[in-house]
Amino acid sequence: MDQQKEKKRLVAQTALSYLKEGMSLGVGTGSTVDFFIDALPEHSHYLAAIVSSSEASTKKLKNLKIEVTDLNRVSDVDVYVDGADEATKHLNLIKGGGGALTREKILAGASRRFICIVDDTKIVDVLGKFPIPVEVIPMAQSYVARQIVKAGGQPILREKFVSDNGNQILDVHNLAVTDPVKLEIELNQIPGVVTVGIFARRKADILLISEKNDVITLD
Ligand code: A5P
Repeated sequence: MDQQKEKKRLVAQTALSYLKEGMSLGVGTGSTVDFFIDALPEHSHYLAAIVSSSEASTKKLKNLKIEVTDLNRVSDVDVYVDGADEATKHLNLIKGGGGALTREKILAGASRRFICIVDDTKIVDVLGKFPIPVEVIPMAQSYVARQIVKAGGQPILREKFVSDNGNQILDVHNLAVTDPVKLEIELNQIPGVVTVGIFARRKADILLISEKNDVITLD
């Protein structure tokens, strides 16, 4: 396994230690979480419920014969485990590289504890080098893009992509996220925006970062 994959496997493995009997679990999306899902069959039997953040993760869970529960049937999610595209040491995140940001933000909001799992290549001082994914209602795509240009960003429509919710994604380049909460709120207020991939109002509670051979915990 190459070094990057090994880091993902290691950090996913570490997140398993946060699972306790009777907990409900939210499962994120992406290649790091995929390692977490691969290890779940040994743990799912003692969990009360497992909720998924995307059709892709649901499919993977079901293939492993793990039952997936609708969020509406779970009062609260005890622990939510998910990756990120960028993270700061203040636990602010950019998510949505895989396009699952809306359901991910819902699960982050509904969870008591959000554990974010990344490798050290994702750590930045200031968010925004990774283009910020913004999920938009299709009819508002051009309007939202123009508003983002006025705010100084460079939105690029994600080609041939439809989200699990039937929406489109604009990947916004060149916006330095010096005040993540402010920018998240501002972009969210543009009519037609469904979700902004900045996770700062509800950021991670615990950030697990894998380096070469070990995992650092920030909380
Ligand atoms: C999915 O939409 C994203 O938010 C992922 O959580 C993020 O892109 C991290 O994915 P990787 O673990 O594949 O880097």
